[in-house]
Amino acid sequence: MSITSIDNEFVAHSYGRFPVEIEKGKGSILYSTDNKEYIDLTSGIGVTSFGFNDETWKNAVIEQISKVQHTSNLYYTAPCAELAKLLCEKTGMKKVFFSNSGAEANECAIKAARKYFNDPNKSTIVTLKNSFHGRTLTTLAATGQDHYHELFQPLTPNFTSIENMVELKSIDPTTIAAVMVECIQGEGGVVPIDKELITQIREYTQQNDILMIIDEVQTGNGRTGKFYAYQHYDIMPDIVSTAKGLAGGLPIGATLLSDKVQNVFAPGDHGSTFGGNPVSCAAAFSIVNRLTDEQLQDVTRKGDKIKAELQNVPGVTDITGMGLMIGIKTEKPAKDVVNALVEKGVLALTAKDKVRLLPALNIDDETLDKAIEIIKETVC
Ligand SMILES: Cc1ncc(COP(=O)(O)O)c(C=O)c1O
Repeated sequence: MSITSIDNEFVAHSYGRFPVEIEKGKGSILYSTDNKEYIDLTSGIGVTSFGFNDETWKNAVIEQISKVQHTSNLYYTAPCAELAKLLCEKTGMKKVFFSNSGAEANECAIKAARKYFNDPNKSTIVTLKNSFHGRTLTTLAATGQDHYHELFQPLTPNFTSIENMVELKSIDPTTIAAVMVECIQGEGGVVPIDKELITQIREYTQQNDILMIIDEVQTGNGRTGKFYAYQHYDIMPDIVSTAKGLAGGLPIGATLLSDKVQNVFAPGDHGSTFGGNPVSCAAAFSIVNRLTDEQLQDVTRKGDKIKAELQNVPGVTDITGMGLMIGIKTEKPAKDVVNALVEKGVLALTAKDKVRLLPALNIDDETLDKAIEIIKETVC
């Protein structure tokens, strides 16, 4: 039996997969079991920050896995402590809770906001329409897209989504615990949120004793050319959630707590067996350490290059995003473009009606140029 037929028989059918069986990778190239080469512009949906089989990342993982692979949170380990310290130094946040995924990082952010006020009458979490915050019942409730909700009612109560300040101000502020925002809506179609709206939300939350949570699950860890995307907006949130690219390909989630909320959790309030896993944390430490100003500038340069190259290409009607998080609106349906790209050896993503690119942050220019040429001939 082929891998595909075993998978189809035994793995739950919750994913639509492309007809590609991946065997291994190096840098930004993936190799299939039938020996085809693919230029990877997906990085496992924004996860493999420095590509595949990367020496520095691999050594960090091997070194830690050779010492101890898991301890539970009953004991102290250096990778967990040192990663938390590094994240706080890079952001000005004060404490970190580690989990295993974006949904869990958001779940923790929401629990932190609710626990901070500890008042059922001040428990509403407001999110933006078209947002995506995860697939657990609570993060689905936070997700501002109705079609994700339909099959899973009832969701966690006291979530609502808004489009603008008028809608936010129409909700009694004394009932709101937090407003949660993605600076660029990734799954929503790579839609950057207006600086004015983010700034106004921040001012309003500060004036009304409401917490502001920024969801950096997709935009974080260098993806947009800043360490976190909120740094493009000159704001300081109360809580930041992140995951995906943080550990470069191992499961991790992190919820960063600012000065104001840093002591919200006491022992027993929240937990995760695998959270703070030393191998994931050692991997993440090696990734975060490499996100230097120079590396971030290179992400911006490559993102600008993709935009400049594709801007006036026939078949492209719009390009959105920042850094190496790019959405391309095409005349042809995005799905058709991505399917055609796979045939030509380029892996890309869709996000709503756009082709979405999330290449490795260190993709080399030659590989990127080659992929851009293939995209140009495929979109027209
Ligand atoms: C902004 C955002 N938040 C949360 C999530 C959920 O992350 P995970 O799939 O790791 O649970 C995603 C996943 O795409 C995301 O893009």
